[in-house]
Amino acid sequence: MAVYTIITPDRLDFSPIIRVNFIFLFFCGRCRFSRRGQGQETSSTPTEEELKIKAINGFKDILPEEAVRWRFMEEKARDIFGRFGAREIRLPILEKTELFARSIGEATDIVEKEMYTFADKGITMRPEGTASLLRAFIEHGLHVQQPVQRLYTIGPMFRHERPQKGRLRQFHQMDVEVIGAPEPAVDAELMAMGRMLLDELGISASLEINSLGCPDCRPGFRSRLIGFLENRRHRLCQDCRRRIDTNPLRVLDCKKPDCRAQVQEAPSILDALCDPCRDHFAAVCRGLEALGVDHGVNRFMVRGLDYYTRTTFEFITGDLGAQAAIGAGGRYDGLIEQLGGPALPGIGFAMGMERLALLMEQQETPLPRPATDLFVAALGEKAAAYAFPLVHELRRLGLSAAMDHSGRSLKAQMKQAGRTRANYTLIIGDNELEQQEAILRDMATRKQESVALQTDAAEQAHLLALRVRQNVIVHP
Ligand code: HAM
Repeated sequence: MAVYTIITPDRLDFSPIIRVNFIFLFFCGRCRFSRRGQGQETSSTPTEEELKIKAINGFKDILPEEAVRWRFMEEKARDIFGRFGAREIRLPILEKTELFARSIGEATDIVEKEMYTFADKGITMRPEGTASLLRAFIEHGLHVQQPVQRLYTIGPMFRHERPQKGRLRQFHQMDVEVIGAPEPAVDAELMAMGRMLLDELGISASLEINSLGCPDCRPGFRSRLIGFLENRRHRLCQDCRRRIDTNPLRVLDCKKPDCRAQVQEAPSILDALCDPCRDHFAAVCRGLEALGVDHGVNRFMVRGLDYYTRTTFEFITGDLGAQAAIGAGGRYDGLIEQLGGPALPGIGFAMGMERLALLMEQQETPLPRPATDLFVAALGEKAAAYAFPLVHELRRLGLSAAMDHSGRSLKAQMKQAGRTRANYTLIIGDNELEQQEAILRDMATRKQESVALQTDAAEQAHLLALRVRQNVIVHP
């Protein structure tokens, strides 16, 4: 039984140099504190910098410019998942700690040291989506409705890892699971779905696959592997020495060069598969070929979660430094039963959204740029008073409309119209208002025309909507 503790940053993160700095800062803090006590008020006034509250290390804001990329990514994913018949499910962030211990595995890095756990309450902020999704599937008996379920979920996950480029403590996944289908065609179809998503996001990545066998063939391989590793124990890193006893397969995908060199000659699980697992793997490879999905076999791929059986796969990039996996998944045929559900097979994968976003930026994936249908440049108080309800009515009709509220010059307002990427600008001055006329400027062609102004804002909005948008949806 593992003991869960609330992880404190100093347990994992800080190098000795940083610790020395901490000690120094601690004493500075204490000195300042004691000086405060002696009435030195100047030092007690926090600087502007000290007043600022910053985001927690490893937790990141997604600013408006970036959010455009994120929305594009999510819309693409929803579209593609829908084409493959997947339906959305939304899940809570907090779950009972036991759910992750029983599914991901007690001896994994995630459960051993990366979970954000409220130890006194026995709950954890989800480190991944599969366990939560299966918990919901079982709890609501979703299999009763439909024998095969294709579900997807999108949202934040939490792991206390050392933050670096492409690795955060709050990160986001787009996760798809197919439950109830044992056929290898489904494995191939899911990988083809992942590939389609990457293609449509303009991301190039390679696909690596492996099989981890099943409860019939894996134990025999495990024993052989332990024998092989024991002979090299003294040449492996500390973590891998421990893994020989707890999770020997993980030694195969240790990233440390010395360990990598040691396992080059290790037995391959692909040579130890039982006949049904071997047939399954061969059929998955044939399925990928039939769908034109390029892939390579990586016999060292193990995955950091214990629930996998048979097929495992990763989409890999060389463009993100150490964080090579942009999406990963596999089959987990015994897991649903292990979590108290029916004996149904399952397979899924999750894409890491931060990594996708970085690659889209690097590979300059073209994004839709939001535009304004109509900018109203009002010059003078009366014109502004006329424009105010007009802009509101335009928005009620489904158009994006904008105006300036600060009485700026025509030049400044035209600049603002450009910044909001307005398709049209309606220019109204107090004089034009008196003559019940305004100028409508097509911002792309720069052509201008005169339009008659109506007294009623709603009526005016209707006419403008019909003019600036051929297919405008006019809401009642
Ligand atoms: P995973 O390999 O742990 O698998 O994570 C999937 C993806 O999430 C990774 O390939 C990576 O892109 C992203 N990711 C993981 N950790 C971080 C992090 N700290 N910062 C940024 N991105 C990260 C799973 O989570 C499984 N639940 C996938 C699955 C679904 N298997 C079957 N169904």
